[in-house]
Amino acid sequence: ISDRPTAAISHVYRGTFIHSTQETAVQILENALLGVDTDGKIAFVEKGEDLDRLSSMFGFSPSEVTQLTQHEFFMPGMVDTHIHASQYSYAGTALDMPLLKWLNTYTFPVEYHFKDLEFANKVYTQVVKRTLRNGTTTACYFATIHTDASLLLGQIANDFGQRALVGKVCMDRNNAVKHYKETIQESQEETCRFIAELLNKKYPLVKPVVTPRFAPSCTGALLGQLGAIAKNNHLHIQSHISENVEEVKLVKELFPDSESYADVYHKYNLLTDKTVMAHGCYLSDKELDLFRETGASLSHCPNSNISLCSGMLDVRNVLNHKVKLGLGTDVAGGYSASMLDAVRRALDSSKVLTIQNPDYDTLNFEEVFRLATLGGSQALSLDDQIGNFEVGKDFDALRVNVAAPGAPIDVFQCEEPKILLERFLNLGDDRNIVEVFVAGRKVAPFTEPTE
Ligand code: GUN
Ligand code: FE
Repeated sequence: ISDRPTAAISHVYRGTFIHSTQETAVQILENALLGVDTDGKIAFVEKGEDLDRLSSMFGFSPSEVTQLTQHEFFMPGMVDTHIHASQYSYAGTALDMPLLKWLNTYTFPVEYHFKDLEFANKVYTQVVKRTLRNGTTTACYFATIHTDASLLLGQIANDFGQRALVGKVCMDRNNAVKHYKETIQESQEETCRFIAELLNKKYPLVKPVVTPRFAPSCTGALLGQLGAIAKNNHLHIQSHISENVEEVKLVKELFPDSESYADVYHKYNLLTDKTVMAHGCYLSDKELDLFRETGASLSHCPNSNISLCSGMLDVRNVLNHKVKLGLGTDVAGGYSASMLDAVRRALDSSKVLTIQNPDYDTLNFEEVFRLATLGGSQALSLDDQIGNFEVGKDFDALRVNVAAPGAPIDVFQCEEPKILLERFLNLGDDRNIVEVFVAGRKVAPFTEPTE
């Protein structure tokens, strides 16, 4: 039983709660009571029978309790550990080329347009709304090289109430698009300005993240400066690693003195316990060991890996190496901004590995559910705050109705909570997500910020 409350209770819910713990991929709490305090934190999670005792202990009236209906449950909000907010402008197109050609042909020309704040405002508003509505309560965003547009993304996430890490992208070499590049000095100075101005806004849910695009886009000197900035300010770091064979080969050529791709980042202090690297399809076991030793994490982006024909991440091997792992949509290399899609593509990819090798230890939906929630929070080093329904964490949650009117699931009978979860993960969409909460506050369906 929890200690005496410090903040008053603002809301109590009664029904089924489904979440992950370190020990159990899917833990189901039926007829449970969850109290949220006025700071948006989980004050208690207890058995329904304890209502009278809890109401006197925490000072709320049993008549104020919100009861979930038969086909409803709460699950933790999903964590998108890797998404390019700017690339949302062309999501669902341009998937006909391998990575390096794709970057020069589609990505860099589009990202260049984000120097126009009006365009940035349109795209960033839509990507925040779309992801929140689809259950992404926390997103780790790449913006573009433009500081003011990147700051705008932070403001928009804050205004809509999404928890976000936001990165101004850094790149000082190897770019076919003439004006979409910085000098090393611009990159360093603008990164410092971005961090200072974003921190200065004191948005409660938005943090800056140091963002070298990836080793081929950055000189060693720039990588070194970014590593130092992150270290001196205790900041998060995000980048890409070992996504595609050509890219891995290019990194070998560009950094001949480094033992491996992971070693390039390690040498410049870019592998820390607040680092998240996307993809990692071609990392060796030794590189995975380096990830575990440094506490750096991986973001598994299965839609992107397949859509750009990049590679297959052996998730089981990553988990066996005890490397922290989350899921990412990687819009627009991945065509869907929905984390439900990332869940499904992660399961499909694991089954493709099983087709290729019948002895493969296939991921199950329970494990992928954990990756989308608790795993993501660990990958972003936010698991002291979010990821599951532990007392003291922020209430970031989705109220799911598997039988919601108009939603794409037909429910014919009373089904077990675990079956409801499985059906939602495989078949559901935003119509099944009845309410989205971040830090206790309802953020979708929308309460539009006042203009
Ligand atoms: N590697 C470097 N930049 C990018 C990007 O924008 N998308 C993907 N998928 N990989 C990258
Ligand atoms: Fe990416």
